[in-house]
Amino acid sequence: MKLMIINGPNLNLLGKREPEVYGSTTFEDYLGQLKKKFPEVELEYYQSNIEGELIGKIQEVGFDYDGIILNAAAYTHTSVGIGDAVKAVETPVIEVHISNTHQREEYRHVSFISPGAKGVILGFGLQSYDLAIQSFLG
Ligand code: DQA
Repeated sequence: MKLMIINGPNLNLLGKREPEVYGSTTFEDYLGQLKKKFPEVELEYYQSNIEGELIGKIQEVGFDYDGIILNAAAYTHTSVGIGDAVKAVETPVIEVHISNTHQREEYRHVSFISPGAKGVILGFGLQSYDLAIQSFLG
C-alpha cells in the first residue's frame, strides 16, 4: 500500500500557526507517529505553498500510488485547477482538513476538491490524516 499525503499552503507552519485552531504539533512529528502506527504502509509526504506544484504532484503520483490524502488548505476553497487534477487522476483522493471548515467562515464552506474526492474527513485535528489512512486500509 503506497499512499501520498499532500499538504497545501501554510501547512508547513503547523505547530506554530494559530495553534488554537491547528494544534501545536509539527507535521513532521505527526508523520513520524503515523509511520510507526502504520508500518505496513509506504507513506510519502509532500508540501507546497504553490498551486501549480500541488497540481504537478497530484499528476505525478496519481496513476501510480494506491491513494492520495490531500489537504489543499486555502486552495480547497479557490482552486478549480486542483479540483480538476483530482478528477483527472486514477488514484483515489481523500480530502482531509484539520479543522471543521463548516464551523468557520462561510468562504471555507465551499470545496473545489470534494466533487472529485472519494471521501472527505474533516474536523478531527491531525487525526483526520490517520482516519484517511484507515479508510484506505479498509
Ligand atoms: C484547512 C482549512 C482551510 O480552510 C485553511 O485554509 C487551511 C487548513 C484545515 O486543515 O483545517 O489552511 O485545510
